[in-house]
Amino acid sequence: METVMSEAAVGYAKANGGRFVEELKALLRIPSVSTAPEHVADVRKAAEFTAEGLRAAGMENVRVIETSTEKRKGHPLVYADWLHAGANKPTVLCYGHYDVQPAEPLDEWKSPPFEPEERNGNIYARGAVDDKGQMWMHVKALESLLKAEGKLPCNIKVIVEGEEEVGGEGIAAFVREHGDVLKADAALVSDTEMFAPELPTLCVGLRGMIYTELEAKGAATDLHSGMYGGAAPNPFVALAQIIAQIKRSDGHIAIPGFYDGIEEPTKEELKAWRSLPFDEEHYRKTEVGSTELTGEMMFSVLERTWSRPTMDVHGMPGGFIGMGAKTVIPAKATAKISFRLVPGMKPDDIFAKYKKFVESIAPRGVQVSVRMIHSGEPIVVSTDNEYIRAAKKAMAEVFGKETVFVRGGGSIPIVGDFVRELGVPTVMMGFGLPDDNLHAPNEKFHLANFHRGIESIVRFFGLVGEGAT
Ligand code: BES
Ligand code: MN
Ligand code: MN
Repeated sequence: METVMSEAAVGYAKANGGRFVEELKALLRIPSVSTAPEHVADVRKAAEFTAEGLRAAGMENVRVIETSTEKRKGHPLVYADWLHAGANKPTVLCYGHYDVQPAEPLDEWKSPPFEPEERNGNIYARGAVDDKGQMWMHVKALESLLKAEGKLPCNIKVIVEGEEEVGGEGIAAFVREHGDVLKADAALVSDTEMFAPELPTLCVGLRGMIYTELEAKGAATDLHSGMYGGAAPNPFVALAQIIAQIKRSDGHIAIPGFYDGIEEPTKEELKAWRSLPFDEEHYRKTEVGSTELTGEMMFSVLERTWSRPTMDVHGMPGGFIGMGAKTVIPAKATAKISFRLVPGMKPDDIFAKYKKFVESIAPRGVQVSVRMIHSGEPIVVSTDNEYIRAAKKAMAEVFGKETVFVRGGGSIPIVGDFVRELGVPTVMMGFGLPDDNLHAPNEKFHLANFHRGIESIVRFFGLVGEGAT
């Protein structure tokens, strides 16, 4: 059953869709790269822009909340609420992030990352889909309801963070210390993807992760590689040897106890995954673009990326990386190494096992040290609740197709805390597409999905308010 309330708001969203996109462009012009110290002020600007958007939408108690942890001053949170739907109506907590990943390598972009450009139905910019565009859908869905109807069908709280792309410590501390402020009956997260174009999708699981730095030290100082090569330890070679022992060529992680206690997907889940429209060759060619796919070949690609843990190396700072040649044996080298975790694995336990293993295999003459940069727990959400049913129905109405359930291989650290600390059923309703280039050059958001996302969210709130699921 469709509500009259949703229809007026959907009409408003359609009539104002062009303006919504222009506003999103203004947000995308702010280079809110959370990992970059030189962008601290831009990150704050994006927080203020978000707060202003929520105020203009008609939300109340809009606040920019400072965060800081023992380690560092963090990027602010943005909070807003509207709680006049009545005590008999549920409260939904909307979550998104306004920070983005670095845009480098810049010369790979067809249009500059912070100068949003529309090309064939897409908007191109860093953060277009991850997550500014999707966060803005929440703001615009709320505006559409409040302006078209003067009220919301259910109570709403909004929390938007600026540190998701660097591990989300600030929001985690806020949830621990002020859980009551965010108390809600359900959470709505739009920071995931649809499985295929036109296929409405709810994400019901995310991998966790630990992100680490592994440092190897050899000689006391950099050395001439001709004078000392053959006698002095080389920390890059040591890292290569260590990395090759952590992950075997068949994709198996050789850290003792790494796979202990892993929870497998249920038979039903695996069966549902097998019926998803997935063509491995198409995926290899169009998304990965490599000559072959790798990893644990006895598992399907979807299992390998959704329900199996893995390890990746992101970069190896150190040594000589300038143009041309320099014959040096660097005194030290670093590898940025992360592990994706699945249910049953604990970040601290995996870190301890990894540290112990690396120390035990350090090549002669090399001292290794490992440091955790950030971590987040894996999560699988329950699908047996009225909020998932409302979301499924809302999306199906908008897309005219049955909604499918998938997991995501990525991580959103705070989702685990919502479920475990706040005990709220979480709905991950995302509108990205598999070829949106998240974290890569030419990130985009398909504009039709931006508009359908707003409509789906409006209908979701309507259905939640009705309790008609
Ligand atoms: N939105 C992504 C996570 C995501 C992407 C989930 C696609 C499901 C499908 C998020 O912004 C992200 O990139 N997270 C980081 C987490 C991290 C830096 C702690 C990630 O997964 O690398
Ligand atoms: Mn994201
Ligand atoms: Mn991201």
